[in-house]
Amino acid sequence: MPPNRIIVMTGATAGIGQAAARLLAEEPDTHLIIGARGTGRQVPEGSEVLPLDLASLDSVRSFADAVTQRLGERRIDTLVLNAGLNSPDPARRTEDGFGVTFAVNHLAHYLLARLLLPVIADGGRLIITASDTHDPKIIPVVGPTTLDPEALAHPSAKPGRMRAYAASKLCNVLTARSLAVLDDVTERGITVVAYNPGLTPDTGLAGDVPAAARTALRVAVLPVLRLVSRFRPAFYPGTVERAGQVLAELTLGTTSPPTPRVYVSLVRAQVTFPAPSELALDDNARDLLWRESATMTGLAA
Ligand SMILES: NC(=O)c1ccc[n+]([C@@H]2O[C@H](COP(=O)([O-])OP(=O)(O)OC[C@H]3O[C@@H](n4cnc5c(N)ncnc54)[C@H](OP(=O)(O)O)[C@@H]3O)[C@@H](O)[C@H]2O)c1
Repeated sequence: MPPNRIIVMTGATAGIGQAAARLLAEEPDTHLIIGARGTGRQVPEGSEVLPLDLASLDSVRSFADAVTQRLGERRIDTLVLNAGLNSPDPARRTEDGFGVTFAVNHLAHYLLARLLLPVIADGGRLIITASDTHDPKIIPVVGPTTLDPEALAHPSAKPGRMRAYAASKLCNVLTARSLAVLDDVTERGITVVAYNPGLTPDTGLAGDVPAAARTALRVAVLPVLRLVSRFRPAFYPGTVERAGQVLAELTLGTTSPPTPRVYVSLVRAQVTFPAPSELALDDNARDLLWRESATMTGLAA
């Protein structure tokens, strides 16, 4: 008997996504298809790995083709776009010539969402992992107040890594909002969610930071963050397990934002449904990003 539930996921090989994938793989009658780069990545037993390097748009297209072929007549119940990086050198270009943070975090997932949307089941779900760093009211200086997709795609000077990261996460929220209003999505009852797991130390996101510095951070900075978070909740250092658990709940549909909201934010380990940033709610910015991303990926707008 083919499995009842099919989940396709990026970013399931480490951190928050890995914690979610472990829980999802324990669900009965569920088949997990994971897009992963390289070899030797740890995935839950029974899940299927198909090659995917989000730094290459050709790889994204091949992955979408491979998933579609594997599905045959079946459909995806939930597409989880969770992979992400915070590159120490966001000016570095991918093989397609795009700034790496924008390319991996936004453009590749934009393309994947559009290529796989037709094979998401009616009543299915599409989850994009974003971040509250996209909101300047929460993370001042870093959170973007303007959007210029062309400048993000082809940074002329070396952008600050956190600014490049936050801008790519704004793109995730805007893309979720664009997807949520497509006729194909509303008519087929597909739920779209942009998820902020909140500050979660101990993932691979700061993997380039030397181990000694990370230990020092854990000892010295985490207690301070806990204190600060009493006044600034976004600075609460959450656990990988809790962030992964909520990602799994969003994937299964046991947690969902109230219609028509798309943004779900984990704040001090609690699920909340706040508005995203002002810019993330701007329909002009939303439509501009959609159009320019279509041009960059060779799709119709
Ligand atoms: N940690 C936080 O504080 C935090 C806060 C807010 C939002 N987030 C978001 O949460 C998501 C998960 O991050 P995390 O903290 O769990 O980080 P992580 O431990 O570094 O996991 C990142 C995942 O993305 C995958 N990935 C990265 N680049 C890829 C590429 N080019 N092709 C294919 N897969 C790629 C990694 O695969 P490999 O195993 O191949 O490296 C890994 O599975 C990200 O979207 C991040 O922006 C994190």
